[in-house]
Amino acid sequence: MKKDLLTEYDLTIEEFDRLFARSGEMKAELRQGRPHPSLAGKVLGMIFEKSSTRTRLSFEVAMIQLGGKAIFLSSRDIQIGRGETVADTARILSRYIDGVMIRTFGQEMVEEFARYATIPVVNGLTDLLHPCQILSDLFTIIEKRGRYEDLKIAYVGDGNNIANSWLNAAARLPFHLSLACPERYEPDRTILDRAVREAPRSVALYRDPREAVRDADIVYTDVWASMGQESEKDVREKAFQGYCVDEALLRLAKPEALVMHCLPAHRGEEISAGVMDGPRSIVFDQAENRLHVQKAILEMLMGRQRRPE
Ligand code: CP
Ligand code: NVA
Repeated sequence: MKKDLLTEYDLTIEEFDRLFARSGEMKAELRQGRPHPSLAGKVLGMIFEKSSTRTRLSFEVAMIQLGGKAIFLSSRDIQIGRGETVADTARILSRYIDGVMIRTFGQEMVEEFARYATIPVVNGLTDLLHPCQILSDLFTIIEKRGRYEDLKIAYVGDGNNIANSWLNAAARLPFHLSLACPERYEPDRTILDRAVREAPRSVALYRDPREAVRDADIVYTDVWASMGQESEKDVREKAFQGYCVDEALLRLAKPEALVMHCLPAHRGEEISAGVMDGPRSIVFDQAENRLHVQKAILEMLMGRQRRPE
């Protein structure tokens, strides 16, 4: 049976840890110039209905470094953009390629695609979730702090796909997540309720960012208007006043706290330029790690050690 990565619930705890370990191995191999062509001859299709710098580049470079190839499929250019069904597209792509990564709007689109595809499907961001990002962020935290267990991660800002994915991860793995979101911009209700139900001592939602950030090991933020919400930019800017991760807010976290952002960032909005470019920021290491973790994900899903049919 093929395996997909559509949400954080698609991985067992053992698979999370295996991915982190393999990402570290492949990062070291790359540094040492040792090739790891475990996907030689394999082809990944990448359907993008939204813009991307990191996700597109990291998946494409990942496939090159794994000895395979990636094909960029803009939804503007393939027939899905002209109304060919998701189901038919999934069946057709399954006849040509070995895996597909999709960045789109609705989570239901990737779910439907995965139902009809006979090849692994990876969620490269939907309005609801961004699992590859959170996997890579946890790997970065392990790299910097030696572990994620028992750390306090504070997420400040919009209850968007990144916040939802953090919640899913907190429901599965033993770290503390405190979020601060303004009224009407909380995370998805179903995801929040499930996380609170499954990890009641690990998840807390605040209104006041200062409460969320107090004694945090990691302070994390993301844009106030995500892709597809451009027309709400002005309204959101007003609603998020007081939610900027700046020097004053960071002082409430642990003295050694690190700052993360999935990027792209808007300096002066969700994060001050001083914090973004300051000594506590690990955002560029975080962005680099997308590549190493993507390789581990692709190898797990498309490599030879697939689960038995
Ligand atoms: N963080 C992230 O997914 O970046 P892109 O939108 O550039 O892919
Ligand atoms: N929340 C952002 C994340 C970008 C990587 C968006 O969806 O646009």
